[in-house]
Amino acid sequence: MKMRAAVLEAFGKPLVVQELDIAPPREGEVLVKVHACGVCHTDLYTQSGADPSGYFPCVLGHEGAGVVEEVGAGVTSLKPGDHVITLFSPECGGCIHCKSGKTNICLKIREQQGKGCLPDGTPRISRNGEPIRHFMGTSTFAEYTVMPEVALAKIDKSANLESVCILACGATTGLAGAMWKAEVAPDSTCAVFGAGMVGLGAVVGCKLQGASRIIVVDMSADRLEMAKQYGATDVIQAGPGVDAVAQIVDMTDGFGADYTFEATGLVSVMGQAVEAARMGWGLCTILGVAGKGEKLEIIPRFLITGRKVQGGSFGGAKGRTHVPQLVDMYLEGKIDLDGFISHRLTLDEVNKGFDLMEAQDGIRSVIKFD
Ligand code: CU
Ligand code: ZN
Repeated sequence: MKMRAAVLEAFGKPLVVQELDIAPPREGEVLVKVHACGVCHTDLYTQSGADPSGYFPCVLGHEGAGVVEEVGAGVTSLKPGDHVITLFSPECGGCIHCKSGKTNICLKIREQQGKGCLPDGTPRISRNGEPIRHFMGTSTFAEYTVMPEVALAKIDKSANLESVCILACGATTGLAGAMWKAEVAPDSTCAVFGAGMVGLGAVVGCKLQGASRIIVVDMSADRLEMAKQYGATDVIQAGPGVDAVAQIVDMTDGFGADYTFEATGLVSVMGQAVEAARMGWGLCTILGVAGKGEKLEIIPRFLITGRKVQGGSFGGAKGRTHVPQLVDMYLEGKIDLDGFISHRLTLDEVNKGFDLMEAQDGIRSVIKFD
């Protein structure tokens, strides 16, 4: 079948929207008609060439939502017409990690996914017979994608796919980080570093958990204003000469926050998030993704005096379990996803999505397919 998709042809070059071939789903696979897809920082990170494990040609995009078009042999949990959110972080339920209940890092399709293939070691995308690799196991900057059943979360059909697609990555990372990874306790104090998509998701998660104080740090006054609308009780505008850690310690009776969240991907900010956590039991959760090879320095005294540090890819969310729950909370009016979506683009405007992200214009751009 023919489809239009945005292909990374070379690092640092704009994506090229073109017609490609997509093969039918094989055993355990599902063909999804993509309806909407967010433009996320990881797409840009790979496009730029900064990610040493990146490759091309491939179809980028990983924040997708769509409708099941066709299922391959052996697929039991999904059928044509089901609405799904694509998961770069699958949940097979059967591997040693999934069974442990301790982590969301499913091992089932990991190796081939990293190579840009489906679990059988081959891609389904091609161009005049030349294979084109998948990206993050999702490749959702495309009208269609073929993905393993275990990497699709079935959601309530009444949810607008354009709104909930951002739960495929950014929004869930923040929400799940606060709700399920850190398990923020009621009446606690929280500090969130970074008020982009992930940080704002964490703010909402902290609020839903009943935090009494949510302090948000960001360099942008606009983003801090938005953080207030989403539940921040205090904001700190970061910049030269501003000691955010000292201010957070001051605001929390000289101890630091019960929970801190890092949502910038900058190791210097990660260090601040550790130091702003409360002596005795402060828990720092790292949600941002640092560049490969970068190192985080922590003074051991911060750990020996009781602070804890953890991280969570996708905020620790188990995709097939937690994402449908977040969609339900969106439908119940508990999570305002629409407020995060600042720009709506067509597939042909995908590169504009990157430009907007680099300019820090808005929180999220979403590509809408017809
Ligand atoms: Cu992402
Ligand atoms: Zn698994």
